[in-house]
Formats: sequence, C-alpha cells, structure tokens
Amino acid sequence: MSNAPIVLLLSGVNLNLLGDREPEIYGTSTLADHVATATAAAEAHGLTIEHLQSNAESELVDAIHGARRRCAAIIFNPGAFTHYAWSLHDALAAFDGPIIELHLSNPAAREEWRKTSVVAPVATGTIAGFGGDGYRLAVDAVATLLK
Ligand code: DQA
Repeated sequence: MSNAPIVLLLSGVNLNLLGDREPEIYGTSTLADHVATATAAAEAHGLTIEHLQSNAESELVDAIHGARRRCAAIIFNPGAFTHYAWSLHDALAAFDGPIIELHLSNPAAREEWRKTSVVAPVATGTIAGFGGDGYRLAVDAVATLLK
C-alpha cells in the first residue's frame, strides 16, 4: 500500500453531467477527464487522489467527515451547493488541512446568486474560471501548501 498523502477530490451536484451539460460554459471534458488530470498532477507531486461525486449533500458531508485525520487536503467543486449548502461549510470547518474551492467557470462573473459562496469562508483559497486546467492548478496549490 502506498504511503502517499491522500487528497480528497469532491464533486458536487450536477457535475456527473460534465461534458454534456452546458458545454459553452463548462466545456466538453467529462468529470472522468478532470479526475484523470488531477490524478496525473497528484502523482507528479507524490500525492494520491481519492474522488467522490454526489448529488446528495449528505453524502458529501459524510465524505468530509471521513476525511478528518485521514486525508491531507480537500479539493472541492460543490456545483450549485456552493451557493447555499451551509452543512458543507460546517463540515469543512471541522477539517484541519488545506481546502481548495474549485470551479470551472468564474461564478463571480455570472448571475448574482452565484456570487455568494458558503464554502469560501472556510477554504484556504479558491481557483475559478480556468476550466479544466483548474484541476491541475488546485493539485499544484495543495502540493505547495503541504510542503
Ligand atoms: C460550478 C459553478 C456553480 O455556480 C454551478 O452551479 C456549477 C458548476 C463551476 O464549476 O463552474 O454547477 O461549480
């Protein structure tokens, strides 16, 4: 078994439809493509990616609880949960490693309701607006923070 630190990559609601859903905003790459990007970047840094996608807020809360004292960092694209899911805010607040909030698009440049993030106050930092490159950038940021 590898001793590489585990980075939990979480994908929230509707992200299972990436590649097919509003490609003019989110691109044509699938979630599997983005996970592969993150996994390759993690391997280059001696890190392991563990990925979960869920459309259920409670499953994401459980995954964050399960990461406590087990995972070194969390990279999280919550989808629309970003804008209202306070249970995810509270779960993340109880995690003691770096947390990167990640978005393909730049929510700050879109509709008003997307300009609020309930995750941002408990994130170490946010990467948004770089499309699929954001997955590599997020892993690079985690690697730097864990050094
Ligand atoms: C998103 C941005 C959110 O506002 C939206 O609800 C998503 C995707 C992004 O990656 O750009 O589902 O998180």
